[in-house]
Amino acid sequence: MGNLVSRSELLDALNLLDDYLSGGFRRDRPALAEGEQDSLDVVPEAPSGAVPEAPSGAVPEAPSGAVPEAPSGVSSDDLEAVAKEAAACTLCGLHAGRTRVVAGEGPRDAVLMLVGEAPGEEEDRTGRPFVGASGQYLDQWLQSIELQRGSCYIANCLKCRPPQNRDPQAEELEACRPLLDRQIRALAPRAILCLGRVAAQALLHSKATIGELRSRQHAMGGIPVFVTYHPSAVLRDPALRRPVWEDLKKLKAFLGQG
Ligand code: URA
Repeated sequence: MGNLVSRSELLDALNLLDDYLSGGFRRDRPALAEGEQDSLDVVPEAPSGAVPEAPSGAVPEAPSGAVPEAPSGVSSDDLEAVAKEAAACTLCGLHAGRTRVVAGEGPRDAVLMLVGEAPGEEEDRTGRPFVGASGQYLDQWLQSIELQRGSCYIANCLKCRPPQNRDPQAEELEACRPLLDRQIRALAPRAILCLGRVAAQALLHSKATIGELRSRQHAMGGIPVFVTYHPSAVLRDPALRRPVWEDLKKLKAFLGQG
């Protein structure tokens, strides 16, 4: 314990080294603000060192996609109706292997909607989204930006588990898409956070990489869409923690504006 240095001491030492290497003069730097220091402690295993501010203009402006209209008289955008239809759905082959349909969960007035890829084993067993290891990690992300899971709506692009958690196939995503669009319309959240490449590419109808998608501004039907890595990818690769924290800070700044 006696060997531990504080973050500000560590940062100071790194700055000193940087000053030495880049000219030999000690430069003045603004001290970390209170909130920034707190955040470093709060984010699950956030990287050490100064966390860059969210770039200005990080908040999505122009709509880059529309949520398709519901066909008139065919289906309502009511969340319960969507869940009921999902429970009875046989539109793709995944229905044959499911234990439970995972339609989504959260309050009708959720400010944030989270969109993942597809249910995993634990989700298939319980009928609830993001309740396995990646879900528990996701809960920590939300807490790090002062959100509770219970105040968000959590859904997936696919409502049924693919066998052995394989990637969703194009026809499965297409078959399930109307349910997701209806959920988005029903909720009209202030923002959507897309978790991972598969969800982001599917939701945004894009083939761009996750790196490209998370660095751009998106919107659907006027709702800003933020993109970050999937929690399970970050659990596998700790180097992704820092970019995730940057994405979460942008999201927090946007939600804080309202
Ligand atoms: N991964 C997802 O994308 N969704 C879940 O619900 C669980 C794990």
